[in-house]
Amino acid sequence: MTKIAIVYFSGFKGATEKLAESIAAGAKSVEGTVVKMIRTEEVDSYWQDLAEADAIIFGTPTYIGSIAAKFKEFIEKLAGEIWLERLWMNKIAGGFTVSAGRSGDKLSCLQQLVIFASQMGMIWVPMRITGGHYSSQGSEADLNRMAGYLGVMAQANIDEDTSLAPPASDLATAKLHGNHIANVARQFAIGRKESPAEYDKGVTNSSTNKIPATLPELLSD
Ligand SMILES: Cc1cc2nc3c(=O)[nH]c(=O)nc-3n(C[C@H](O)[C@H](O)[C@H](O)COP(=O)(O)O)c2cc1C
Repeated sequence: MTKIAIVYFSGFKGATEKLAESIAAGAKSVEGTVVKMIRTEEVDSYWQDLAEADAIIFGTPTYIGSIAAKFKEFIEKLAGEIWLERLWMNKIAGGFTVSAGRSGDKLSCLQQLVIFASQMGMIWVPMRITGGHYSSQGSEADLNRMAGYLGVMAQANIDEDTSLAPPASDLATAKLHGNHIANVARQFAIGRKESPAEYDKGVTNSSTNKIPATLPELLSD
């Protein structure tokens, strides 16, 4: 069984949550995959699921050209046991974001997610398809219409609710990415089990269900 966790924040209109649902649907379409959806506000109840996950997919809206502050709050909880003891090393990682503008500075947001994953020793999975809407033959209905490569870049008109925005093309793009990450996670999990590296031996992923200590807590001991 491949375990996928999707950790996301969605604060303004629920656009990021809508994308998270599409990512989950895509991941579940891969045989033997189970998905856990985790809102950042509730993460303290899900550390065990994250410890056991083969892949963690990060989702945040783009706010002021950056990740949402509430999402960063979650990321800073990783600075402690998870970072120091490399507890998430070699987990597969991926990400998605949405903004109102076509650009909206979403690239900056995805770049930050890649850095967070790298600090944890995770393995980032980029988009599997090329960019859409490249030519006069293209349209807003194209998959990956924002032509991003680090992860899903979606766009949601500010005056529309989630029944219209993000549009079907972005939701389909998210679904495809969820499917891709689940496939990579499955292949990697099988390979890791069959051919463990020296440092994989003895890794149990069975840490206790406690909230991980953060850096200030570790340093105050
Ligand atoms: C505080 C704030 C800052 C925002 N900054 C940007 C921005 O820099 N670029 C942009 O295109 N849209 C920006 N937006 C629009 C959101 O990215 C957009 O509405 C998105 O769909 C919200 O996702 P959510 O409903 O999951 O929170 C901002 C919205 C808010 C509330």
